[in-house]
Amino acid sequence: MKNIATPFTLPNGSVLKNRIAKSAMSENFGTRNHAPTKGLINAYRVWAKGNPGLLITGNVMVDSMALGEARNVVVEDYKHFNLLKEWATSVEGTGVHLWPQINHPGRQAFAAINRKIVAPSAISLNMGSASKMFKTPIALTEDAIWDIIKRFGTTAKILKEAGFTGCQIHGAHGYLVSQFLSSNSNIRKDQWGGSLNNRSRFVLEIYREIRRQVGSHFPIGIKINSADFQRGGFTEEESMDVIRLLDAEGIDLIEISGGTYERPAMMQGDRKKSTVLREAYFLDYIEKARKLIKTPLLLTGGFRSVSVMEKALEDGILDVIGLARPFCMYPHLANQIFDGSVKRFDIPTPKIGISFLDQLGGVELPWYELQIQRIGKGKSPKSNLSGILAFWFSLKSLFVKSFWKNK
Ligand SMILES: Cc1cc2nc3c(=O)[nH]c(=O)nc-3n(C[C@H](O)[C@H](O)[C@H](O)COP(=O)(O)O)c2cc1C
Repeated sequence: MKNIATPFTLPNGSVLKNRIAKSAMSENFGTRNHAPTKGLINAYRVWAKGNPGLLITGNVMVDSMALGEARNVVVEDYKHFNLLKEWATSVEGTGVHLWPQINHPGRQAFAAINRKIVAPSAISLNMGSASKMFKTPIALTEDAIWDIIKRFGTTAKILKEAGFTGCQIHGAHGYLVSQFLSSNSNIRKDQWGGSLNNRSRFVLEIYREIRRQVGSHFPIGIKINSADFQRGGFTEEESMDVIRLLDAEGIDLIEISGGTYERPAMMQGDRKKSTVLREAYFLDYIEKARKLIKTPLLLTGGFRSVSVMEKALEDGILDVIGLARPFCMYPHLANQIFDGSVKRFDIPTPKIGISFLDQLGGVELPWYELQIQRIGKGKSPKSNLSGILAFWFSLKSLFVKSFWKNK
C-alpha cells in the first residue's frame, strides 16, 4: 500500500490522513423536520472507525422548501445546531475529515414533496414515463438566484461553526448548479445563461459566497460533472473550462463524476465509451484535467480493486480515490485495504425487473440508503436485501412527506 495509505496535504494546509474518500451518498435518514437522526450520526461514527482520509456526507439541502428526498437533512438556520454538532463530533479522535455536501435540487425535485420547483429555466426533465414524478420548474428570478447563493454560504457557515472540517458544493448530477452549467436546462438570456462564462456565474458566485462566509482556511471542494453525456448538454470541453475557472478561484479539491437523472452515468459510467472497459468511469477525463489545473483531484465512480486505485495514484493522475457504494457493503473499507484483507470491493446491483425503475436507480439508490440505515442502527450490511423492500421504502418516504407537505 505505497500510495493509497500516504497522507495528502491540501493547498490550505489541511491534511487527509490517506487517499481514500467516502463520496457523498444521500442517506434519506434525517428526521421529518430535516435534522440529522441519531442513526445517521452513528453511521458516520462507524465509517470514521474504518479510517478513510475523508468522509463526505450525503447532500445537505440549503432550503427546506427544495428537497431532493423526503428525509434530507436541511441546514438553513440554527434550529438543529446541537445535532449538527453531534454529527460533526462523530469523527472525533480519528483524524478523519468530515465534509458535508451542500446542495439545491433545482428541477430534480419530486413533485410529491415540493410545492414549488425552481430551475434556471422552465424546462422539464426528459425521463420518459418517470418525468411524471417531476413538474415543469419555474424559472428563477434574479433575486431568487441571489437568495440561493446566499443560502449556500449560510449553510456552510453554520456547518463550519458546528465543527465540520470542510464542505463540498454539489455541482454535479443534474442538480441546480449543474442545471445552470448545461445549455439543455439553462436557456436564460440574462447574465446567468448563454455563454459558458454566464452559465458558470452561478457556481462561481456560490464558491465566492461560501468563501466569504467561512474564511480563507476552511477547505471548500466541489463535485462536478466531466460531462452530462446528453446531446446539447454540458460537454467535456465545457467542464474543462469550468474547472479552470474554479482552479483560478483557489478551490481546494475538485471531485469528478458525471451524468444526471436523465442519464445516470455516475452510477454506471458512459456505456457508449471504451472507458467501460476500464474500472473507473471517468479516468480519461481526469488524465486530461490533471494537465490543465493544479487543484487536487478526487475521482469517483466505479473503483473496485485496490490495484487499479494504486495504479491511478502511482500514475499521478489524481490525488484521492472516491468510493461510494462500496462503503455501504464494507463500512471499514479503508482499514481492510490497509491490512490487505480485501483486494476487490464487489457490490450488488439490485433490480426488480421494471426496466425504467431499474435503469434510473429507482431501486438501487434506496437499496443502498437502506444499507446505510442498517449501518447507523449498528447492523451489518445485508447483500440479499430485497429490491422490492427498498422500492417500497422510497415510495413510503415520499408518500408520508407529501401528506405532511399538504397539511
Ligand atoms: C444511495 C446513493 C446516494 C447517492 N447520493 C449522492 C449525493 O447525495 N451526492 C452525490 O454527489 N452523489 C451521490 N451519489 C453518487 C455517489 O457519490 C457516486 O458518485 C456513485 O455512486 C459512483 O461511485 P461508486 O461507483 O463508488 O458507487 C449517491 C449514490 C448512491 C448509491
